[in-house]
Amino acid sequence: MTIRVMIVDDVPETCANISKLLSFDEEIEVVGIANNGKEAIDLMEKARPDVLLMDINMPVMDGIEATEKISVAHPEASIIMTTVQGELDYIKKAMVAGARDYLVKPFTADQLISSIKKIHQLDRRKNRRKAPAALSSKPKSIAVYSPKGGIGTTTIAVNLAVMMHQLTGKRVALLDMDLQSSDIGVMLDLKLNKTISDIVQNIGYLDQDLMHDYMYKHSSGIDVLLAPPEPQYAELVKPEYIEKILKVLKQQYDFIVMDTPCSLDAFSIALLNQSDEVLMVLALELTTVRRVKKTLDLFKDLGVQGNIRYVLNRSSEEIGLNRREVEKHLGITIDNHISSNGRVTVNALNKGVPFVINTPTARISDEMKKLALNCAGTVQEKKKKSLFSF
Ligand SMILES: Nc1ncnc2c1ncn2[C@@H]1O[C@H](COP(=O)(O)OP(=O)(O)OP(=O)(O)O)[C@@H](O)[C@H]1O
Ligand SMILES: [Mg+2]
Repeated sequence: MTIRVMIVDDVPETCANISKLLSFDEEIEVVGIANNGKEAIDLMEKARPDVLLMDINMPVMDGIEATEKISVAHPEASIIMTTVQGELDYIKKAMVAGARDYLVKPFTADQLISSIKKIHQLDRRKNRRKAPAALSSKPKSIAVYSPKGGIGTTTIAVNLAVMMHQLTGKRVALLDMDLQSSDIGVMLDLKLNKTISDIVQNIGYLDQDLMHDYMYKHSSGIDVLLAPPEPQYAELVKPEYIEKILKVLKQQYDFIVMDTPCSLDAFSIALLNQSDEVLMVLALELTTVRRVKKTLDLFKDLGVQGNIRYVLNRSSEEIGLNRREVEKHLGITIDNHISSNGRVTVNALNKGVPFVINTPTARISDEMKKLALNCAGTVQEKKKKSLFSF
């Protein structure tokens, strides 16, 4: 996973130079630039840096005050001071405030990069020893599923995960489990780095530390596990690994939202079986309704009802079947709906920003909020027998 770096300096050319030096290293990504300590603090939640390069002398709020505040509020971030020779007296103060290292300007690319890597590695090791903060309630996994492709499953999974985090402030993981045709990387504009296919090669050693390395920190506050870059790697991810992956994730996250493929093969069945809740995405059109019926019949044949919640996507489309009749036909109640808004969804998709962030005041975002509130409810105990049996 790349090391996320924020540059804090009041001289724009310095920021640009440092940024350029860092751009040559593949393991480092500049996730934010701030021109004073206050800006850095304001940017922390969004940028989620692992390492900050902090100038000492800045207007509005200097680097020492900012270091003190950030070390308390974000102890997981490591701070390296950058300073000119004449300010060395201040270094001691900065170290007391929580800085981990310092570089005297002008520094070389080697000095800069080796300091970032060394401090990051040391602090990672230190943080690993700390027990993770206990989760406030029982963790819950939600598989967003539809037996019909192209219906909006990924759009709903992405926006649901972000909205659940926004509403509850809890830790949310989003998993791209559509391994053959993954879309989450594009929808969140994430650079494919390590993915689930790397995890499974180390499945025997998988623990919270290792999992942490594979989760991509997104600026919305959620963490994302991406699907493999090429479909052929999907085969490495066996159904029997899902249990272990979810078990480890549940030690770290309150909510685990999974995007799933529309197929019902052994992998999807294991996924649906092991999630606490299935959020089934429907549309008021015949092929979808027929497939949902078949899927529900299959659930029934296998003997058990899981916890299924239904969401109707593009509910405002004027054409289409009658909702009440569909509910009657399927023997279900649809409690949630998301209206049709191609402009908002496609615009968000093309920008790589979820629509609940891109257009928070749109009606569709409000509907997503209601859905997220419903989904954030407590876990219903599953019936004793499993939803599917092999
Ligand atoms: N409520 C909506 N209103 C209008 N357009 C929507 C809505 N929801 C999704 N879409 C659009 O439908 C298209 C398909 O959405 P998405 O990729 O989320 O579907 P999917 O079910 O995950 O598809 P796939 O089977 O390919 O994985 C996208 O262009 C998306 O922007
Ligand atoms: Mg999809």
